[in-house]
Amino acid sequence: MSTPPHSDPGLEQAAASDESLLAAHEKLLGKKPDDQANYRLLPLSLLFVFSGLIFFAGTYLNLYSGHFDPHVYNEHALPHKGGVEVVKIDPRELGKKLFNNAACNTCHQVTGLGQPGIYPPLVGSEWVLGTEERVIRIVLYGLQGKVTVKGTDYSAAAMPSFGKVAGSGFNWSDDKIAAVLTYVRSEWGNNAAAITAAQVAAIHAKEGDRKAWTAEELAKLP
Ligand code: HEC
Repeated sequence: MSTPPHSDPGLEQAAASDESLLAAHEKLLGKKPDDQANYRLLPLSLLFVFSGLIFFAGTYLNLYSGHFDPHVYNEHALPHKGGVEVVKIDPRELGKKLFNNAACNTCHQVTGLGQPGIYPPLVGSEWVLGTEERVIRIVLYGLQGKVTVKGTDYSAAAMPSFGKVAGSGFNWSDDKIAAVLTYVRSEWGNNAAAITAAQVAAIHAKEGDRKAWTAEELAKLP
């Protein structure tokens, strides 16, 4: 440790006096910016490019972020275990839609009261509230000829077939038939048991393809 503290030439050189520093700053303060220097403007096209990018990013987020709604994107959600969740559709609701979607309502009316002399009522009808054996067959295959409903005879028109059977213009699945029957049997004060797709499928399988029923034929069934 024989070297004296100020003998380092590097330190010696850097040590400017306070006066010299102040003088240098004073000089610089008075100076104007160097307008001779070769500055270049940013190309204007870059402004458009970046504006475009920001616009695109904003639009993208707006469209695909789901507005950061936790129901859309939940980072804490665990991968689903087990099977796919099946959404249950209420057969009555489906039946109501089917009934009123230019199907049954065109003849039997939204009220289920039918039209006097032509279309029999479904409200309080012994066919609707009777055994599922008969009512399923009526909607699957149709009904023709004379039928008595609540003491009145109807024979002016025929009831079309709705099932997936030859000659049907509707081709409804057994599920749909079950749904519409479940609706009809529980609407307008009607109060009969729901009809399942399995019940419809069983009768469908048993009867296969066939023409419309008559009330006489149905009367022989349970
Ligand atoms: C094109 C008109 C028409 C459409 C559509 C129609 N029906 Fe009918 N329906 C009739 C006619 C006519 C009869 C009586 C047939 C006869 O005289 O043999 C009848 C009879 C019935 C009967 C037995 C009699 C009674 O009043 O209870 C039921 C049940 C029935 N229809 C349910 C339905 C259902 C459910 C739908 C819709 C899926 C439907 N109908 C669509 C015309 C129609």
